[in-house]
Amino acid sequence: MKKAFVKSYGCQMNVYDAARMVDLLGREGFAETAAIEEADVVVLNTCHIREKAVEKVYSELGRVRDLKGERLQAGRETTIVVAGCVAQAEGHEIIHRAPAVDVVVGPQSYHRLPDLLRRAKAGKVVDTEFPLDDKFDHLPPRRVAGASAFLTVQEGCDKFCAFCVVPYTRGAEVSRPVAKVLAEAERLAAGGARELTLIGQNVNAYHGEGPEGGAWTLGRLVRRLAEVPGLARLRYTTSHPRDMDDDLIAAHRDCAALMPYLHLPVQSGSDRILAAMNRRHDADTYRRLIDRIRQARPDIALSSDFIVGFPGETDADHAATMRLVEEIGFAGAFSFKYSPRPGTPAAESPDAVPEAVKRDRLAELQALLDAQARAFNRDTVGRVVDVLIEKAGRHPGQVAGKSPYLQAVQIEAGPDLIGRVVPVRITRLGTYSLFGERTEAASAAAA
Ligand code: SAH
Ligand code: SF4
Ligand code: F3S
Repeated sequence: MKKAFVKSYGCQMNVYDAARMVDLLGREGFAETAAIEEADVVVLNTCHIREKAVEKVYSELGRVRDLKGERLQAGRETTIVVAGCVAQAEGHEIIHRAPAVDVVVGPQSYHRLPDLLRRAKAGKVVDTEFPLDDKFDHLPPRRVAGASAFLTVQEGCDKFCAFCVVPYTRGAEVSRPVAKVLAEAERLAAGGARELTLIGQNVNAYHGEGPEGGAWTLGRLVRRLAEVPGLARLRYTTSHPRDMDDDLIAAHRDCAALMPYLHLPVQSGSDRILAAMNRRHDADTYRRLIDRIRQARPDIALSSDFIVGFPGETDADHAATMRLVEEIGFAGAFSFKYSPRPGTPAAESPDAVPEAVKRDRLAELQALLDAQARAFNRDTVGRVVDVLIEKAGRHPGQVAGKSPYLQAVQIEAGPDLIGRVVPVRITRLGTYSLFGERTEAASAAAA
């Protein structure tokens, strides 16, 4: 049997897309393998968000090229596919820089992968179109991989933050129709998924066509999905502060299945920098929004993304970011040094922040965010939380799952609990996860 190795970089949507490519290749007779040296097809599903992410891909391509050479000497062919956002952004350029690559395919055309592989027998193939047909209609039914699954409901972005490549690599905002989302959710639930994370580059801008025409908001979609038999938990990511409408905030109050954990990137706490980033809101608007969300759902935990060293960022701007983080308090966060990206408006800015300053600011911000995350996790010790058990644990006799706040939790129990939501008393804080024991006591948080 032919084998395919598929590796994903970047965001959760790339993880979702990679899984769909595995499904597609499966239909073509390829078995997935984790051993790259035995793969007849190697797919790298790439990310273009920061320069480092792109460098990683090119260094991996160097290794894959060597492997292709070795396999050829042994009489076996290897087809190398670059998919994802680097494929979309760089197109033919990838084949110039890495001539061993056979196929370049963007995130909106990967449903054509089987055909592209056939064409690659005759020469290099590049497909970075944004086709009019819906790629989801061409994908095979999903294999359910576990108790928790991603479900793409929206793709693309119209926000054009000055630093970001996503509007160029993923294209304009498109929402999948409600009926198609529901059908996929029902299939996943029937296959054993208990938790769905609705994903989109701008997921709370969701405006998919409803069954009677007219657009549904994300809040309405969440309420409907909560009725799907078998589904116990819903999450969504990533959101933009501008699109947190009243209905979605109310869903956090009314909908028990919607988990009390929200990733809401703010990027900076300085109004000047937020304006330069074209985020279209200021720091106080974000603070007031968080207040409203916390009123609706007092036990909600928040996470965010931050960029330090955006062009023109001064010590005072950075101090404003630190202040915002101190005031709000995050349970988790991702923070990055600004990376200039070709084709984005900010890349043209003359007033770059020196690398050493970026490094110091990032260290300072991360120290604060790490302390907040640790404090949040420590607060859980002694409490009872509901845990969705997802898989076998690190050691025999253990199973692992997630709390409502996305914390990894390990408990001593048998695999029969996999797929169930059980109350767990948290007993201790490990390095990467919490440890707990199963209890009959009802938890404070929602199932
Ligand atoms: N759609 C999401 C996430 C976009 S990418 C959103 O709107 O928030 C994920 C994160 O990468 C961003 O939130 C931002 O913090 C970071 N990022 C994006 N472009 C970047 C760049 N050029 N340099 C550094 N970080 C960047
Ligand atoms: Fe990028 Fe901004 Fe769109 Fe998020 S909202 S994907 S950061 S342009
Ligand atoms: Fe990266 Fe593309 Fe996602 S640039 S973060 S893989 S949308």
